[in-house]
Amino acid sequence: MFYKTLSGRFLLLSILFVMMAEVLIFIPSVANFRIAFLQERLERAQLASLALLATPDDMVAPELNDELLKNAEVLNIVLRRDAVRELMLAKPIPGPIDANYDLRNMNIFTAIRDAVSSALAPEMQIIRVIGQPVKNAGNEIEIVLFADPVRSAMLDYAKNVFLLSLLISLVTGLSLFLALQILITRPISKVIDSMVRFQKAPEDAHNIITPKAGIKELCEAEVALHDLQTGLNASLRQKERLAQLGGAVSKVSHDLRNILTTTQILADRLETSDDPKVQKMSPKLLNSLSRAVNLCERTLAFGKADEPEPELRAVALKSIVDDVIESDQLQSPDSKVQIISTVGHDLEVQADPEQMFRVLGNLLRNARQAIEATGTLGVVTVTASANDGGVEICVRDTGPGLPPKAREFLFKPFQGNARQGGTGLGLAIAAELVRGHGGTLELVETSEAGTTFRIILPDARE
Ligand SMILES: Nc1ncnc2c1ncn2[C@@H]1O[C@H](COP(=O)(O)OP(=O)(O)O)[C@@H](O)[C@H]1O
Ligand SMILES: [Mg+2]
Repeated sequence: MFYKTLSGRFLLLSILFVMMAEVLIFIPSVANFRIAFLQERLERAQLASLALLATPDDMVAPELNDELLKNAEVLNIVLRRDAVRELMLAKPIPGPIDANYDLRNMNIFTAIRDAVSSALAPEMQIIRVIGQPVKNAGNEIEIVLFADPVRSAMLDYAKNVFLLSLLISLVTGLSLFLALQILITRPISKVIDSMVRFQKAPEDAHNIITPKAGIKELCEAEVALHDLQTGLNASLRQKERLAQLGGAVSKVSHDLRNILTTTQILADRLETSDDPKVQKMSPKLLNSLSRAVNLCERTLAFGKADEPEPELRAVALKSIVDDVIESDQLQSPDSKVQIISTVGHDLEVQADPEQMFRVLGNLLRNARQAIEATGTLGVVTVTASANDGGVEICVRDTGPGLPPKAREFLFKPFQGNARQGGTGLGLAIAAELVRGHGGTLELVETSEAGTTFRIILPDARE
């Protein structure tokens, strides 16, 4: 289990790596230790042999000879001063010489090889060591000695170095482990905790993480998470608002339909009026009322945000456009904005007249409102033409152009609204309805000179 955690792996791996590095140092340092040990024996032997210089014939009494050899901890010493003169302290050797080591031409590889072979050699071996006397006191010095003390000193040293290495790796590993805990594991756990808390209640803004990690990469992750959570939180709230709105719309539609139906019955009677003005107005009034009832019914029938499928049929576009213009003028009879349509009699489109009425109604109303807001005169022109791909309808105005906010959230419900009293729904509804017809609604151009929207409806034959 411990090995599965990041810190656990780090601890074990760092111990392993430090041990590996130690091994690289360990073997050469043990070999070096052995060389130094032998070198020190040679120096002691050299000192002992110098006692012979004080005597006339390079000889000492047997007791002194033994004493000197004992102090130097060797069996035999030969110091070659020059080509002819040799100082020698000797006593009988208990057996043959098992190995020779020349310290004068050693390198790291031969030193390691000799160290390994002497560590593996059997006990009670006798070895000869040759070296260069210190301080140029001669050409060559040679000693014979038991190998056991050399080996046991070397093994002691190796054991100590090994234990020390182990200690160093443990301390290093633990330090790294703690550092990792503080620097990475704990901050990551905090991020995870925040994710879990957010997951439980994403609509609660308190659960959004506040980036505060000191480490750059972690802080970046926190910032990304913060952005993600903020976005999600916002869209959840938006969804909730929309759901509430949907409920409200259903209720309103329901009661509105009842009110409108009553009004419709009352309006029916207007047709029998003697007043010619009233007689002229009543079909239009009935038309508008039936449109409104229809809209309420459809909204209720679907009970969701999506618009219902259009009921497509071949209709004269001119009749829809004229209806829209007429009802727009009825709504704002005092408007100074001139509305012109150049749509011909014979242009037929494959469309749901109710939905097309709403699309064009929204575009026209927006254009008129935009011009009116400037307080100057202006013109809205509706043109249409049939071509290979289908029918193209343009609504052009001489208004002030789309404000930046409306341009940024073009066709997005509730967000593009830049007009006081507006909802930001008109263009979104229009675009959705046109899409339902398999067509597209697009912004052709917008500038201080005016704005043009274009509807493309696919050809009926396709
Ligand atoms: N023809 C236009 N000229 C200038 N601005 C427009 C035009 N049509 C739409 N707009 C801008 O786009 C915004 C969004 O329009 P719309 O989706 O119909 O929502 P609403 O009319 O309810 O605000 C409007 O608030 C208005 O600022
Ligand atoms: Mg509008």
